Amino acid sequence: MRAIILAAGYGSRFKSDKPKVIHPILGKPMLWYVVNTVKNAGIQDIGVVVGHKAEEVEKSLKEEDVKFFYQKNPKGGTADAVVSSIDFWRSYDGYVLIVNGDSPLVSSETLKQMQRYLLMVEEYEGFKLGGLILTTHLQDPTGYGRVVKASNDRILKIVEEKDASHEEKAITEVNSGVYIFYTPYLLNALFRIKPSKETGELYLTDVVSFIVENGHEVRSFMASDPLEVLGVNTRWDLAIAENLLRLKLIRFWAEKGITFHSPETVWIEPDVTLEEDVEIFPSAVLKGKSKIKKGSVIGEGSIVENSEIGVNVDIQPYSIVRNSKIDDGSTIGPFAHVREKSYVGEKSHIGNFVEVKKSKIGDRVNAKHLSYLGDTEVGDRVNIGAGVVIANFDGKRKHKSKIGDRAFVGSNSLLISPIKVGKLSYIAGGSVVSKDVPDGAMAVERAKLKIYEGKGEAKIKK
Ligand code: UD1
Ligand code: CA
Repeated sequence: MRAIILAAGYGSRFKSDKPKVIHPILGKPMLWYVVNTVKNAGIQDIGVVVGHKAEEVEKSLKEEDVKFFYQKNPKGGTADAVVSSIDFWRSYDGYVLIVNGDSPLVSSETLKQMQRYLLMVEEYEGFKLGGLILTTHLQDPTGYGRVVKASNDRILKIVEEKDASHEEKAITEVNSGVYIFYTPYLLNALFRIKPSKETGELYLTDVVSFIVENGHEVRSFMASDPLEVLGVNTRWDLAIAENLLRLKLIRFWAEKGITFHSPETVWIEPDVTLEEDVEIFPSAVLKGKSKIKKGSVIGEGSIVENSEIGVNVDIQPYSIVRNSKIDDGSTIGPFAHVREKSYVGEKSHIGNFVEVKKSKIGDRVNAKHLSYLGDTEVGDRVNIGAGVVIANFDGKRKHKSKIGDRAFVGSNSLLISPIKVGKLSYIAGGSVVSKDVPDGAMAVERAKLKIYEGKGEAKIKK
């Protein structure tokens, strides 16, 4: 089977400069979901019809293996869009799946069931259906095309809301915008379509009555979940679609053995992977290609983006980890920030108000409070006291530093990069260190402390 995805329209109800179909849902363009669903239904050969701001739409799918077809007049209507891709399917003697690009909730399971249904009809009833249309009953069918059926339940036609009579508007069975047609029948019917009197558009839905007139049968296939048919026409539809996809994803992971506390507040994107016994707390945000391994905890309000979190890592509340890797058994936060290709080794603790940037931190390192570690390589079992700052920027350039295994960097010391602090060396609290410290040495840089007996009390009482 081949598939055509319609993505050329203006989407005027969306009120956007950006094409509707590339607006993001959980960090991916709306259209990506449709392409992905079609692929997961086992269809390799995919054509996407573009028109309005075509380059932007094509760019949004640059990583996908699809062919693009150009609709000259993006106001021509959905039938005109299908005509625009005619080279893709005209000579193909088989079924073609057509999906609206604004239907991100359709599932691949449903598409597979539809394909199976067609084969069953061929095998047990001995003929090819002209068309199979995904439909559902909606309490409020406003805005959707209505499926008009004869008393024997055969489809007669689809009528668009704008062209529907009073009685037709009362029909609650709606067209989802997902169709499978037998191409020779589609081809014949497509060129009989006349522009709508109301809008001047060529409606793809009009092929149905022509296929039926030509003596072929068109059947409806009921969506197992009515939410699957949601077409995204407005920003509010987008918000609803995003929410539904988010909950679907969370449910998927919950069934794989992940705990979500207050799942209604958790954000998770489609490329994130989670392992068993991961525990996610309220308002956590998991983005991009993040991977969270077994038994790790993501605390309240924390953000993990394009990062790998090892086994049994504890990301405490309100921490941010971006484009980095945290190894097994470490603790990050609360209120920590690890970013730009940083690595934190095993069983280390990056604590509150500590920022780690483009740095490699060894195993069993403690940097528990109020520090900045930038462009630095920190060995194993190093202690970074409260308030330690690596001054990596001289106003013009960034410099790199290195701190050896088991070094002790006392509170509030300032290390001026580039610098090398040796293994087992000891930096006294409050020191400004601007020279390398050899292995095993101690560095103290501090003005002499003076104590004047009685003078304090006298000053306070004066
Ligand atoms: C369409 C169906 C309607 C169905 C609904 C389901 C038609 C005539 N109507 O209505 O029966 O209930 O979807 O959501 O098909 N597009 C193009 N070129 C165009 C016009 C549209 O490529 O000239 C694309 C759009 O980018 C969009 C899709 O086709 O992805 C559907 O177009 P839209 O205008 O949203 O159709 P609806 O009015 O929602
Ligand atoms: Ca639509």
